[in-house]
Amino acid sequence: MIIAVDGPAASGKGTLAAGLARHYGLPHLDTGLLYRAVGLAVAGKEDGPAFETAAIAAAESLDASHLTDLEALTAADTGVLASKVAVIAQVRAALFDFQRSFATQPGGAVLDGRDIGTRICPDADVKLFIQADSKARMERRAQQLEARGETVDRYKLFHQIEERDARDMLNPHGGFYQAEDAHLLDTTQMGIEAALRAAIAIVEKAKALKAGGQEPS
Ligand code: CDP
Repeated sequence: MIIAVDGPAASGKGTLAAGLARHYGLPHLDTGLLYRAVGLAVAGKEDGPAFETAAIAAAESLDASHLTDLEALTAADTGVLASKVAVIAQVRAALFDFQRSFATQPGGAVLDGRDIGTRICPDADVKLFIQADSKARMERRAQQLEARGETVDRYKLFHQIEERDARDMLNPHGGFYQAEDAHLLDTTQMGIEAALRAAIAIVEKAKALKAGGQEPS
């Protein structure tokens, strides 16, 4: 079973995808980490002429060893860098095969990102699109960063998230929208446990419908 989980910055899609992967015993890929690793590799070059070429080279040579420094990868500034390299078509193309192979491994997988249901796995068995309003998303990300000892400027973080949302939505190579057959889950008013229960219910319903059986009540 392939489960595609998409949604905007800090919507909770990563936590939900990890929870679904645990629940169904499937491997999980946070595809945002790939873009973040490319962004990190070209940090400091954003305003230079070689930015695109360097980002494409970094995407083409990306391997698992670039995904280990989670502290640097998940920093808020790295998210902004990631959204800058994510608008480069050749970067997306270079990262496609890795994501596609992960998704199509025997037994299936859970992938989260922005274009999983639209571009990477249009054939996914279940697609979820996670939403939450921008203030709730900022607060969640702030608490995540504070939990690991970082000092958070909430005003700056809110603007970073809005800046990323805007760039992502305009990404001409993206496919950053809710797939027609995706199930929308708005988690603004939900804690992690409630959101995971709701996501599992959606997956169970989709599985039952696919099997041609009764919808679970
Ligand atoms: O965790 P958060 O939602 O804040 O970000 P992320 O999923 O790690 O993604 C960081 C950035 O990478 C996004 O703002 C997108 O610009 C880009 N991205 C993408 O283009 N395609 C994906 N499948 C995943 C992320």
